[in-house]
Amino acid sequence: AYLQDENLTEECKELIRTLPTSNGRDWLWTLHLYQGFWFTARHLNGVLLARRHFRAADSDILLVAGPKTGTTWLKAVLFALQKRSCYSEPDRKSNHPLLQKNPHELIPYLEFTLYLKDQDPDLSGLTSPRMFATHMPLGSLPQSVKDSECRIVYLCRNPKDTLVSLWHFLNKVTSMEMGTYTLEEAFDLFCRGVSPYGPYWDHVLGYYKASLEMPDKVLFLKYEEMKERPIEQLKILADFSGCPFSEDEVADGGINDIVRLCSFDNLSKLEVNMTGKFRLAETKSFFRKGEVGDWVNHLTPQMIERIDCITGEKFHASGLKL
Ligand code: A3P
Repeated sequence: AYLQDENLTEECKELIRTLPTSNGRDWLWTLHLYQGFWFTARHLNGVLLARRHFRAADSDILLVAGPKTGTTWLKAVLFALQKRSCYSEPDRKSNHPLLQKNPHELIPYLEFTLYLKDQDPDLSGLTSPRMFATHMPLGSLPQSVKDSECRIVYLCRNPKDTLVSLWHFLNKVTSMEMGTYTLEEAFDLFCRGVSPYGPYWDHVLGYYKASLEMPDKVLFLKYEEMKERPIEQLKILADFSGCPFSEDEVADGGINDIVRLCSFDNLSKLEVNMTGKFRLAETKSFFRKGEVGDWVNHLTPQMIERIDCITGEKFHASGLKL
């Protein structure tokens, strides 16, 4: 069973008593402000355990993204890139793991999966380079991630699309519990920074600045650029993560194969992603539309003005555009 709040570690329970808490109607919107970011109790439990017990190796790759910014997609892409020598022709008939498993099973989350309630998860099945994922903000990362040569790949997405995606997703997951949130409610909370791992803008900025200061350590990618120029972005990711494409691979269309394998159209139609489950969610809820700009179908002009204004203010000094 998924971790219940009463199963939190004593350390986490004690910490939560000291933290500001938002009044959510269900556990996913009941958030605790820890070091400037809002976490659910269960995820904070995992963050604390991962921080205490996870030891990054120099060759590890840590994939970081805020919730609903395309984590599932990036997991698929990174896995396919790193493992391409093992599975040369990723077509629908082959035995490629991405055709049999949801990407979340192939690259585990530190705080949701491995360290959700475990101090010493079995990592022996992971081959080098080990790949992990997390939604943690920069300041919450385990110290060994910072001290080692472990590389970080960060993916961000336009805040309006992220919000719309988050609203759809959380309603799907929480409708089993206490009813849903209206878009207006979710929008207001998101804009005030009170969303899981929010404030979203601060999450992005932390990694953006780190990528400028330490370009060999942190690669900063954008969902929109991955959509628009996937081949170019995959090459950048392959170079950064230590598995550059050879000239032959480029000539043979190897990059195109991976783009196609990991595309929304392909992954979302696979049996495993249509009918499976990952934690509390059905795997199909990780594949909704996969488009840039779906926010135009949801947000009112007033909402657009408010969120654009926040984005402008938050990102102005950095020059970051999303
Ligand atoms: P939408 O809700 O806008 O469709 P995460 O993986 O971080 O939970 O993010 C989920 C978002 O990524 C959803 O956005 C989902 O549809 C989109 N997504 C999932 N797989 C994708 C893919 N292969 N290509 C592009 N977008 C994808």
